[in-house]
Amino acid sequence: MEVTPLQAGCGAEIHGVDLNALSDGEAQAIADAHAEYGVVFLRGQRLTPAAQLRAAQRFGAVNVNRFFTPIEEEPRVALVLKEPQHETNIGGGWHTDHSYDNAPAMGSMLYAVEVPSRGGDTLFANMYTAYESLSEGLKETLLGLRAVHSSRHVFGAQGAYHERGRDDRYHNPALATQDAVHPVVIRHPRSGRAALYVNPGFTLRFDGWTELESRPLLEALYRAAARPEHTCRFRWEPGSVAFWDNRATWHCALNDYPGERRRMHRVTLDGPALGAYRTEAPLAA
Ligand code: SIN
Repeated sequence: MEVTPLQAGCGAEIHGVDLNALSDGEAQAIADAHAEYGVVFLRGQRLTPAAQLRAAQRFGAVNVNRFFTPIEEEPRVALVLKEPQHETNIGGGWHTDHSYDNAPAMGSMLYAVEVPSRGGDTLFANMYTAYESLSEGLKETLLGLRAVHSSRHVFGAQGAYHERGRDDRYHNPALATQDAVHPVVIRHPRSGRAALYVNPGFTLRFDGWTELESRPLLEALYRAAARPEHTCRFRWEPGSVAFWDNRATWHCALNDYPGERRRMHRVTLDGPALGAYRTEAPLAA
């Protein structure tokens, strides 16, 4: 097994591993690379839905996304689909999965079943280097802040994913009721590193601030975090897997393949509640 880090510490390629026959040592090395580089990429895998679930469960308990329609064969595997007639794609803006939950998903494992002839790449941004790149003054300010995250404006009945009417790719808009408050800078539970934890998809405002007051600082942080030097880009092939850490990265699926199908299967994994970077609390597993 070989782990090859990509540019700027964002992402690593894993070679020489079959997710159908993962040894304990390989699973450990993947978990370490996942926490260190934020996302790991594997190619040439052959994963049935049951095999993908088995592989993902080596890294944590499954956390079923309540808004994505599952695949027919397995209710714990979410369908990430764009058909030729669809105009929008799923995850087409920078975000981190489930930050609207009190204990956000640790990781997401996405498997490519069918990909367009060109396009449909996924971008990732490294939230460790995003934080490290800020001025000392701003870092210090952020350490004292918390932010409110929500699913309502995305998955709720009036949310962005439902505004064009019914779309079978999403369900349960009535469950988009909860908001969560997290530190703006978290201590990553496995690596111990400081990571910026706000994202354009789900963060509404700083806790105790209005949305209007929050917007200029949030937008400045988003611009800093999405700078090319913090990002990497993954070109999919059938059988490719990206396994990302939602506490250390953002991701964004490009919607640049009109009239073609892209079909992916996603398994999301549980994580602990997130602690502020500056805390004496012991690291969660
Ligand atoms: C997602 O946001 O989970 C989907 C990412 C992708 O389809 O590349």
